[in-house]
Amino acid sequence: MSHDQASATIVAAPLPAPLRGSIRVPGDKSISHRAVLFAAMAEGTSRLSGVLDSQDVRSSIRAVRALGAEASLEKQPDGSLAGTVTGWGGRGPSQPDGPIDCGNSGTTARLLMGVLAPWDVRVELTGDESLVRRPMRRITAPLMKMGARFLPEGRETLPITVCGSRRLRAIAYDAPMASAQLKTAVLLAGVFAEGVTVLNEPAPSRNHTELMLPEFGVDTTAADRTASVTGPARLKACEVRVPGDPSSAAFIVCAAAVRPGSSVRVEDVSLNPARIGFVRTLERMGADVSVCRTGAAGKEPYGVIEVRHTPDLHGCEVPAEKIASIVDEVPVLALVAAHARGVTVFREVGELRVKETDRLAAVVEGLARLGVDAWEEGNDLVIEGRPGLRTPSGAAFDSKGDHRLAMTWALAGLCGTAPVEVRDFDAVKVSYPGFLFDIERLAR
Ligand code: S3P
Repeated sequence: MSHDQASATIVAAPLPAPLRGSIRVPGDKSISHRAVLFAAMAEGTSRLSGVLDSQDVRSSIRAVRALGAEASLEKQPDGSLAGTVTGWGGRGPSQPDGPIDCGNSGTTARLLMGVLAPWDVRVELTGDESLVRRPMRRITAPLMKMGARFLPEGRETLPITVCGSRRLRAIAYDAPMASAQLKTAVLLAGVFAEGVTVLNEPAPSRNHTELMLPEFGVDTTAADRTASVTGPARLKACEVRVPGDPSSAAFIVCAAAVRPGSSVRVEDVSLNPARIGFVRTLERMGADVSVCRTGAAGKEPYGVIEVRHTPDLHGCEVPAEKIASIVDEVPVLALVAAHARGVTVFREVGELRVKETDRLAAVVEGLARLGVDAWEEGNDLVIEGRPGLRTPSGAAFDSKGDHRLAMTWALAGLCGTAPVEVRDFDAVKVSYPGFLFDIERLAR
């Protein structure tokens, strides 16, 4: 593997051996953000462990410090962060000195809107050139119904100033899309509103907020496509242990599924059903993959994902209501589909257009570079697989600053037949800084 520091371009060459052995992936990004933010909102000192050390989570840690929480999280021998966060509790967040830069992290920006809405503060949120292009109206619209204001009025994208109010109204809101970030922002604001705040969603999105808020003492209900909190309530400090991130595990699992001779166990990884849709999709493609629960961290199940290479993967159809459970895994699953016999269709994946970059266009373009036919049909993504796919020589990809695309295209070379170039590979620092090291260790 060669790595050019200046341009952060890597050449990902075929791995010298199949992937074999056991691995633990870094802590779950969604749970890490929530652990940091909820602990900052709580009264008292929470103990956190297994927290992901990545640029995105560091954006949340920096933000809560700027807002008056005390976070002493230190690097552990396994690379995770652990320590304490003392929250602002009933005092509320303090007015920060300047804007809060959320970097590349949509979760930080969108969840903070819900965190700040119930307090008398005016906080400007901003982010990097990708985040300032992402839609924020989906969050500001329901929070405005609750009584918060956002300046400049009518703005769709960051920078936006959140003007909170101590007199928020509880609402019942029908979300236009399945988004855990939207659901979480509304529920977090609802914690401080008088009455029951209800969020209904068109398909089930990840439920880490509903599982974690009761650990902080908040009366929360969760059922299929609906969640609610009863306010006003206070968060009380607690202990959170973060399991491994299934979205990071997905890159290892998909790599092993396509690289002949591979056999891998990913341990201590979250098995939250809302997150392991990729395992179900791989099963439907005929992959040899299984999960085994070994415990729970709070209410979050975790365990082992085992995968072995199978030569005869076939295409499948992923229905619209399952997309939220694979929303971050579509690019890498599309790469697996490129190796499978027949056609794979991901239904209603329009949300991919507003991720860190337009992932739908990027997947179609990247697969074309591999000589694979893929296209958009309305909001569906269609891929015509090519069993025995050979990597064209000199193929070059651009991550477009998107961590999941950086890892997907690196796998095209690592698990392929010829080296590929991946520009701006450093984007992986957002969620899985040690990705290359981990995958190369398994293939020794
Ligand atoms: C996340 C929710 C998802 C996901 C993102 C993390 C979260 O986004 O894509 O990586 O932690 O709540 P949406 O809620 O926009 O679908």
